[in-house]
Amino acid sequence: MDLTTSFGGLTLRNPFIVSSCSLTSQPEKNQEMEKAGAGALVLKSIFEEEIMAQVNSMDHDDVPIEGYDYISFYQKQHCLDEYCRLIRDTKRLCSIPVIASVNCYTGSEWTAYAKMFQDAGADAIELNVMRIVSDFDYSYGSLEQQHVDLLRAVKSVVTIPVIMKLGHNFTNVVPLAGRLRAEGAAAVVLFNKMSPLDFDIEKLTLRKGEVLSGGSELSEVLRWTALTSAKLPALPLLASGGVVDGEAFVKVLLAGASAAEVCSVLYKQGVGAITEMVAFLNDWMVRHHCDTVDQMRGRLNASHRHDGDRFERIQFFSNISQAKNDLN
Ligand SMILES: Cc1cc2nc3c(=O)[nH]c(=O)nc-3n(C[C@H](O)[C@H](O)[C@H](O)COP(=O)(O)O)c2cc1C
Repeated sequence: MDLTTSFGGLTLRNPFIVSSCSLTSQPEKNQEMEKAGAGALVLKSIFEEEIMAQVNSMDHDDVPIEGYDYISFYQKQHCLDEYCRLIRDTKRLCSIPVIASVNCYTGSEWTAYAKMFQDAGADAIELNVMRIVSDFDYSYGSLEQQHVDLLRAVKSVVTIPVIMKLGHNFTNVVPLAGRLRAEGAAAVVLFNKMSPLDFDIEKLTLRKGEVLSGGSELSEVLRWTALTSAKLPALPLLASGGVVDGEAFVKVLLAGASAAEVCSVLYKQGVGAITEMVAFLNDWMVRHHCDTVDQMRGRLNASHRHDGDRFERIQFFSNISQAKNDLN
């Protein structure tokens, strides 16, 4: 079977992308994932916030005031150089596409980092833009506009493909995806994962929730991939969230994704999961007489109304009546 998938100028030998996470922060580990069968990998995001926290946590007590800026500059530069080295070393060991991932809060830094990573040899840049806004005076649409402005700014300084990774906190992702496509996004990732939040009810404190996906995330990814791919067939979509086995991998492609970005299952099962999931896809394609990934892509998206308007029907009417029947 031909598992090749292409989007935004990148060609992948198969649609399995290792998504941005700490597993992609070492060149040798990245090589292992290529050997296991990955089609591409997204390096761990570089976070401007993390770099600045490191700069600010340095003990500057003995440093004369005029030396502070100098040290801060070099500390920041050191972090960026380390990331460039990760790109270069991974590129030396791997032949699959290597995508750098950026998360900044200062406008000028997004573009500066992106340009630097292109120069270091990244095949594409993924912008990890996700944000929560809860301001009372929030103006509707401004978060979407920030995404568009950011893409435009980054596209003005790099020539490699730019991928937009979105959070799931939008009322309607379709028009935003359409605008990003019009501004030249190579692909849109649905969705990023928010750092989970939980409460400790004994200590009365906040605590970190379960980080790794168990599979329940898949439903919303299928819904929005199926809806978006039907309305924007020319926009490459990368599905991320709850792709934890071969079946889920096949499902996101049927929903219309060009590829899946996956990480939780690799933390849980190791890189062997890549080999298994790619083999599952290959077997499925044989059983369903699909010679290419394009032949299966979008076969269950929202342009095929097999089952009424299921993608937009979200209330539990039928489940409730079924539950009543089960009780009788
Ligand atoms: C431990 C961990 C670290 C992550 N770090 C990043 C990151 O640095 N940048 C990013 O864009 N996404 C990050 N993500 C999100 C993943 O790339 C991915 O989009 C998300 O986890 C959904 O895929 P999954 O269900 O296979 O985990 C991280 C996820 C996990 C679980």
